[in-house]
Amino acid sequence: MKILLFGGAFDPPHNGHLSILKEAAQYTEFDKIIVMPTGTPTHKKGCMVPFDVRHYMAQLAFGNVDSDVEISDYEGTNLKDDYTYLTLRHLKEKYDNADIFMLIGSDSLFSIDSWKNSPEILANCTPVVFARKTGVEQEIYDKIAQLRAQGANAVYIPYKVIDVSSSGFRGGQHSDSVLPQAVDAVIDEYHLYDDNETKRLQGTAKLLAKIMLDEKRYIHTLNVEKLAAELGTIYHLDVDKLRIAALLHDILKHTSYDILLHRAGASGIINRIKDKPKQTLHGFAAADYAEKELGITDEDILWSVRSHTCGRNGMTDMEKVIYLADMLCEGRKFESRDYLLSLARKNLDLAMYKALVHSVEWIKSKGNEIDTDSLEALEYFKTLTDNCKEEKYE
Ligand SMILES: [Fe+2]
Ligand SMILES: [Fe+2]
Repeated sequence: MKILLFGGAFDPPHNGHLSILKEAAQYTEFDKIIVMPTGTPTHKKGCMVPFDVRHYMAQLAFGNVDSDVEISDYEGTNLKDDYTYLTLRHLKEKYDNADIFMLIGSDSLFSIDSWKNSPEILANCTPVVFARKTGVEQEIYDKIAQLRAQGANAVYIPYKVIDVSSSGFRGGQHSDSVLPQAVDAVIDEYHLYDDNETKRLQGTAKLLAKIMLDEKRYIHTLNVEKLAAELGTIYHLDVDKLRIAALLHDILKHTSYDILLHRAGASGIINRIKDKPKQTLHGFAAADYAEKELGITDEDILWSVRSHTCGRNGMTDMEKVIYLADMLCEGRKFESRDYLLSLARKNLDLAMYKALVHSVEWIKSKGNEIDTDSLEALEYFKTLTDNCKEEKYE
């Protein structure tokens, strides 16, 4: 079996990637082409958009190159370092010791000896090399001769140099015309590389919700965003931040337990993660995702995402808004919803207390375990609202 492997950040994928992949696919009769976006963060450099978006754009760009193309999520989801030697080891095991041809640029060929475990890399694949710039042809031939003398192999594809790069696009040196049309359309619609950070994060978060969640959960997410914006306006909070938190709060709802546990633990803030009920982990994990994948450092956003499943002692107003918007948004159906919603529009703390009472009772009625953060939050809001006359708000 012959496999052509094409790895890269694809931040974003452009027509240069596409042309060289099509050209390399003609080199021999491949049984499979695997395009593999690197995980985030890579050991090489950070990426501007999250792995899941780059994986999605790679699908749009390369999905139709050949009927045997697979856009692999291996490096973004395997919870290990995405070193090339590990990826090749994985592919060798998965595909029964297949012949792997790895498509790389000339700059990568010249530095291949410095890659981690490069002898293993060269034992497990044949680099298929294209020139990244003109005038390096002789250097490529010399390097290939050197590798062959060492018992390894590499092949050169003499293809015209396409002077396009992802960094050039991000830096504004290239126009949209260097991108496949579908990639260009999604970048425009969701402002994926916008200079305005808020616009970029809101757009990216919305696209993530669309591609990572099922239809029902996506609609729920938009409903949470809508109510969070309404409550945020009432209480004079930063509505832009609330929108980002709302769009991300359930982003890992369909993610495997292993990844949830890994991400929740990696946040480094919650030290009782292993004791937490399983259904609460996606909030903690989503905060880690927001931080690592989107580069969000704003604690208001991170805590609003993190505490939306359990609540916590001393919640900020933004956290209260996301918690309540999640519980009371359009589509939620339970008896006291209308009452709690009207309370949320008048008094956040009292609404939080009543919401937590309702939530704890509901969890108990299902025979499930109550998280300690929720119990602490309940106590906190009880004390805070003890002297609050509820009738005033009815
Ligand atoms: Fe949730
Ligand atoms: Fe939710």
